[in-house]
Amino acid sequence: MIKSLKNQLVVALGLLVTVIGIVQGVSSYQLSKTGMSALLDLRLEQVAARMRDGYAEGIPENPARGSQDDRDVVVVVWKPDADLPFRTTDPALHFPRDAQAGFSGAEVNDEHWRIFTREEPTMTIQVAQRSSVRREITQKAATQTLWPIAVLLPLVWIAVALVVRRSLRQLTELGAEVQAIDMSHLQPLPTVGVPTEIAPFIDSINTMIERLATSIEKERKFIADAAHELRTPLTALQLQADNLAPHIVAGNQERFQELRKGIARSGKLITQLLRLARADAPMNGAPLSRVDLSEVVTGAVADVLPIAIARGMDIGAEEMVNAHVRAVETDIGMAVKNLVSNAVRYTPDGGTIDLRMRRDGEMVWVDVIDNGPGIEEALLPRVFDRFFRANPDVEGSGLGLSIVKAIAARYGGDVTLKNRSDGHSGIVASISFPVEEVSENVIAPALNT
Ligand SMILES: Nc1ncnc2c1ncn2[C@@H]1O[C@H](COP(=O)(O)OP(=O)(O)OP(=O)(O)O)[C@@H](O)[C@H]1O
Ligand SMILES: [Mg+2]
Repeated sequence: MIKSLKNQLVVALGLLVTVIGIVQGVSSYQLSKTGMSALLDLRLEQVAARMRDGYAEGIPENPARGSQDDRDVVVVVWKPDADLPFRTTDPALHFPRDAQAGFSGAEVNDEHWRIFTREEPTMTIQVAQRSSVRREITQKAATQTLWPIAVLLPLVWIAVALVVRRSLRQLTELGAEVQAIDMSHLQPLPTVGVPTEIAPFIDSINTMIERLATSIEKERKFIADAAHELRTPLTALQLQADNLAPHIVAGNQERFQELRKGIARSGKLITQLLRLARADAPMNGAPLSRVDLSEVVTGAVADVLPIAIARGMDIGAEEMVNAHVRAVETDIGMAVKNLVSNAVRYTPDGGTIDLRMRRDGEMVWVDVIDNGPGIEEALLPRVFDRFFRANPDVEGSGLGLSIVKAIAARYGGDVTLKNRSDGHSGIVASISFPVEEVSENVIAPALNT
């Protein structure tokens, strides 16, 4: 069973064309054979007619035996009442004198002959030809008619394959488009110039995309609303804890601090949830500005500098590129800061963190390179999943990288996280954005602690 629609069509059409070709071939072969036979008969008749016009006397009286070519016609002329032929082109052949007038067949000298007998008042004329010679001539002529079909059939197969491939190309393209649907940018498939047979599929897919987008948006809104609703009671809880703090007896201090930490953790989680819901939200005409990416990078370094210094870390922005991105400034800031704060958070005290910028075609990349422990290769594909944390010993909500990914996708950029491949342990976290306009390479003074 052939699964591919394309192959099914090619085979079906190809077989159909082949059957038509064979039927056509057989009929033209037969027609040509019959036509050639009729021509050969006509020739016998014409030769006989000539003999009647006095040519018979022109045949030598005693022609040498076997002097005639096997393929030639043999002429025998009988006079009435004579037992031997008056003239014959081959005396070795004895044709039946009483053969019926017109065409007949006879075995002469162990060979089959086709004989035309013409009765005249003064003579009987017989013109004969070997059936084997006639068969050879007719077959040869008929075989010639098969050549065009034999040449055309493979060409038609190729043409069928090409036409089917061309016609189904749009289906293949549609498949690729469906596969390339970006969950973070659910766009309906284009319907212009689509063949009528495919249009219903595209309509159904577009309806599905619409429903999916609606349900994703509903989920996003629910998360945003839930986080928002949770924030008020949590703030109240925090206030209550603050008010209670002076009244906690010494023996309960430790447990009370745990309680406050828990409240703070929940607060961070809610903040991250809100940020994720915002980053996932459609742009909906948010005010975009020309964001200087190198400023964002130095800003992110400056933000974590106090913590880095306190932990004896060396953090610096080295290779800088002058590039601008059209975006909501806080989005770009948050994405870069998330990567930098991950590097600070997961690199042990005294570690080194480098930030670099680079251009790659239309994109500008920011690399954040640390010399921390890195991430187990098997876990790497999951780091962008919501709530996934590769290292549960360090506190975190597991949403930071999901936020970064949503922001990158929002602007048509990308984000990657890899273990360093230069022989050192650590992570290279990179984010890219499309550059607003061409900019030059500027080596900014290194900003180091
Ligand atoms: N530079 C890094 N070095 C080592 N591990 C990292 C690094 N960056 C991220 N990770 C791992 O990837 C996980 C996911 O990171 P992500 O930023 O999404 O969440 P988080 O840092 O745990 O929490 P959040 O950023 O929401 O406070 C982290 O828990 C950590 O295990
Ligand atoms: Mg993080």
